[in-house]
Amino acid sequence: MGIYFESGAEMTMGTFPLKADELKDAVRLAYETGFRSFDTAQMYQNEADLGAALADIGADRDELFITTKILPANLGTDRFIPSAEQSLQALRLDYVDVLLVHWPSPDIENEEALSQLQLAHEKGLAKHIGISNYTIAMMEQAAALLDAPIACNQVEFHPYLDQTKLKAAADRLGVSLSAYCPLAKGQILDDPVIAEIAQRYARPPSQIVLRWILQNGVSANPMSTKKANLESNRAALDFSLSGADMHLLDQLGSNNLRIVDKQRMPIAPDWD
Ligand SMILES: NC(=O)c1ccc[n+]([C@@H]2O[C@H](COP(=O)([O-])OP(=O)(O)OC[C@H]3O[C@@H](n4cnc5c(N)ncnc54)[C@H](OP(=O)(O)O)[C@@H]3O)[C@@H](O)[C@H]2O)c1
Repeated sequence: MGIYFESGAEMTMGTFPLKADELKDAVRLAYETGFRSFDTAQMYQNEADLGAALADIGADRDELFITTKILPANLGTDRFIPSAEQSLQALRLDYVDVLLVHWPSPDIENEEALSQLQLAHEKGLAKHIGISNYTIAMMEQAAALLDAPIACNQVEFHPYLDQTKLKAAADRLGVSLSAYCPLAKGQILDDPVIAEIAQRYARPPSQIVLRWILQNGVSANPMSTKKANLESNRAALDFSLSGADMHLLDQLGSNNLRIVDKQRMPIAPDWD
């Protein structure tokens, strides 16, 4: 199931769009709740705030699992490595656990970005490398080009989006998926099927959604600023859904809800 599960990082705290004190407060609450894995990106402009928050907490480097992502504008040979080094400086780290290409760029060929990603790995800037928002064809290209294993393809993943094809291709290529917008930004928590399952397990709908993701072998990156929600999200680690209930949730993909679409992110590729 990949490095996130092997490292106990399958429940990661997302940090977008948090900054400054809001980020610091949320990271402290998350840490107190047991989160050790944090997801940031150059695009979020909060790497320095995350670095400061973790330094304030006094967290041991060895217990942390930090993912960051290279901005599309920094994917070229001239900017990739210097920008990764700037990210490390901002995060106050010698290396990140996972470094991702955040988005395929319309201006820079994937080959160039991936060769720089590989170089970042070889230079020790990242323990593991991966991709985000890559289509099936792009994942195939990455698997063919990269020598190091691909830690993940971080993509939108929740019960209202049918990612069956992408998941099957990822499984075939040995690439794990990591879920962003795992709670669909809260938009699916009133769904009657999810609510009915939640009632039977005496768990909130958010835990049912996160559990479905984890039981698909996909790591999750929920963002929350609230202690109760952070605690609740971690509690998705400690129960199981039956096969029948997993199947009920699988059917919700026909809702076809894509939150990060071309309107929100014009450089998004044509999804599978
Ligand atoms: N790779 C990419 O291109 C990409 C794109 C988008 C996002 N991401 C990453 O994925 C992370 C998560 O995505 P997201 O923040 O867009 O969406 P999300 O995690 O699906 O939803 C976040 C929202 O859900 C609420 N929430 C969290 N836990 C809850 C709970 N237990 N019950 C009820 N509501 C809850 C939060 O509010 P409260 O603060 O009130 O709890 C927040 O408003 C981001 O932070 C970022 O790290 C990556």
